[in-house]
Amino acid sequence: MFSDKIVQNLTRASFIRSMFEEGEKLKAKVGAENVFDFSLGNPVIEPPRSVKETLKRLASEEETGMFRYMSNAGYWQARKAVADSLSKESKKDIPPSHVIMTCGAGGALNVLFKSLLNPGEEVIVFSPYFVEYGFYVDNHGGKLTVCDTIHDTFMPDLAKLEKLINEKTKVVMYNSPNNPTGVIYKEDMLKGMNDVITAAKKKYGTQLFVIADEPYVKIVYDGKKVPSVFNFFKNAISVNSFSKSLAVPGERIGYIAVSPEIDNADLLMDALIFCNRTLGYVNAPAVGQHIVIDCINESIDVEYYKKRRDLLYNALVDLGFKCIKPEGAFYLFPESPIPDDVAFTKLALKYNLIIVPGSGFGCGGYLRLTYCVDYEMIERSLPAFEKLAKEVF
Ligand SMILES: Cc1ncc(COP(=O)(O)O)c(C=O)c1O
Repeated sequence: MFSDKIVQNLTRASFIRSMFEEGEKLKAKVGAENVFDFSLGNPVIEPPRSVKETLKRLASEEETGMFRYMSNAGYWQARKAVADSLSKESKKDIPPSHVIMTCGAGGALNVLFKSLLNPGEEVIVFSPYFVEYGFYVDNHGGKLTVCDTIHDTFMPDLAKLEKLINEKTKVVMYNSPNNPTGVIYKEDMLKGMNDVITAAKKKYGTQLFVIADEPYVKIVYDGKKVPSVFNFFKNAISVNSFSKSLAVPGERIGYIAVSPEIDNADLLMDALIFCNRTLGYVNAPAVGQHIVIDCINESIDVEYYKKRRDLLYNALVDLGFKCIKPEGAFYLFPESPIPDDVAFTKLALKYNLIIVPGSGFGCGGYLRLTYCVDYEMIERSLPAFEKLAKEVF
């Protein structure tokens, strides 16, 4: 009737969505103010003032021609703004011709997989991982392979990575700062990862690409820095978005940036631009690109999220939850106090707490809570966590 594969995908529950739906039902029953919803990573913060200034300017009578078709790669000024910013951070020369503007990081990853993968080729990701990766890879005939991390740090297990890479592996992809653990991938580990990848490239005679998916790169705490992918891997590709850094996820604006050291980089750029067009995105939204040109150096106030991280993290740890302290992004990933994380999230519903099981991120036995939510809601939720903790510890 319809696509068998898509119908099958629909029956595979999305834990995030189903917990969100549970929350909506509960809100109708007990009132929104009595439900503590930690399920969705949708920022409640408003974009910086400069974003709204750009929008006002674009809407003024003086500006014309701001919303027309453009090159499929995007406005040159937007690509240059991204290239300049990345060159400054990495101290490498990333030219504007190596950047294309995309419909968010999600669009960027689809364009990349379409451009890179032959049928059956593999993309290795590290658990826990952003659940959409599986669908994005599958969209383009690839196979997702999941590599474990070491759970006291959530750094990739490089010995396991070495075993998983084979002649079909095309991409190793990491996400830092990480959704859902909040960890930043450290320089030492990235050096070790490069050793593993370089040896595998020699062994199999293949061209392995490393994609860093970095939508949270500007949301980091306590003076931490995110090492640039361009400083560690020859075949480095950065995927980023302004959804989180400028709090504009509905605007769908992001980019792909490709290292100048990649062999045949010009051909890869042509492939990316072609796929951006033929996947039907045509080009990234014009308004979003004008925002990037004006506001690339702006960001939401990170203190806003830090305050929420500290409140929720400290409260949960005081109650006995075991949890790595997030260095970035806006998620907590505590261990489930009972081995069955799905059962635990059902138990939490009894106290009107909406939490997503780690199983939804390929990492059972853990829980994900987002803290890009109202501060007062976190405060109001604490007695509920206390009751829940009494029941399980
Ligand atoms: C790790 C990760 N990658 C990609 C995305 C997609 O972001 P975008 O809104 O730019 O498509 C998200 C969104 O939550 C994410 O958490």
